Amino acid sequence: MDIVIVKNYIEMSKYAAGLVGDCIRENDQPVLGLATGGTPVGMYQLLVRQYRAGLLSFKNVRTFNLDEYIGLDPAHSKSYHRYMQEHLFSHVDIPRDQTFIPDGMAGNLQKECRHYEKLLKKFGPPDLQILGIGENGHIGFNEPGSDFDGPTHVIRLADSTREANARYFQSPDEVPSHAITMGVKSILRSKKIVLLASGERKAAAVKRLLEGKPDPDFPASALSHHQHVILIADKKAFGE
Ligand code: GLP
Repeated sequence: MDIVIVKNYIEMSKYAAGLVGDCIRENDQPVLGLATGGTPVGMYQLLVRQYRAGLLSFKNVRTFNLDEYIGLDPAHSKSYHRYMQEHLFSHVDIPRDQTFIPDGMAGNLQKECRHYEKLLKKFGPPDLQILGIGENGHIGFNEPGSDFDGPTHVIRLADSTREANARYFQSPDEVPSHAITMGVKSILRSKKIVLLASGERKAAAVKRLLEGKPDPDFPASALSHHQHVILIADKKAFGE
């Protein structure tokens, strides 16, 4: 794993946006794996800025998002569909039919998981996968105990994850109990993985990631099985 320690959130976002920009420019038909949450917001802002400055086009880009809550309509203000519209898609020239996010409203969720996995195989794997990290070490929504060999699947969110994500909702009860997530196996197929971590809240997880051996109780540790991972952490996330 390559480790890049940067001063703060802005520097982390710049570094990550630089890698995404390079990936888009270097590939004729780039495929990006995208994450949500607070961590990549700054990176998306910088990508939009590069697009507006004419330095980047998303016309030939395909994107796959890691996950989506079950039971939230794409238009719901806290759905990851809406997040991606607000932070990236509606600001750049990416054709909508080149953006993929699991459908958390699908009538048949198992079928939706299989369908998403098929799409990933057809158009993927991502040239570059952006990841955040949960305080409990989750990647995507692969919670502790997840199978390292698992494809896209339905997951029950850990109580700690629902608590951590409650800050994005009006009340903790509103946080959905389940999600669809790309599996660890689907994530590890990406050619390059960029893991972002910012702030003290992530320090314990970063520490465990760097010290630990692969352990299903700490899903991010699966990344040690991958050949090309870049961890970009700011000083606070690297603190411990
Ligand atoms: C969320 C997402 C993850 C994200 C993580 C950290 O629940 N499913 O993809 O990386 O938790 O979120 P944040 O960046 O807001 O700390």
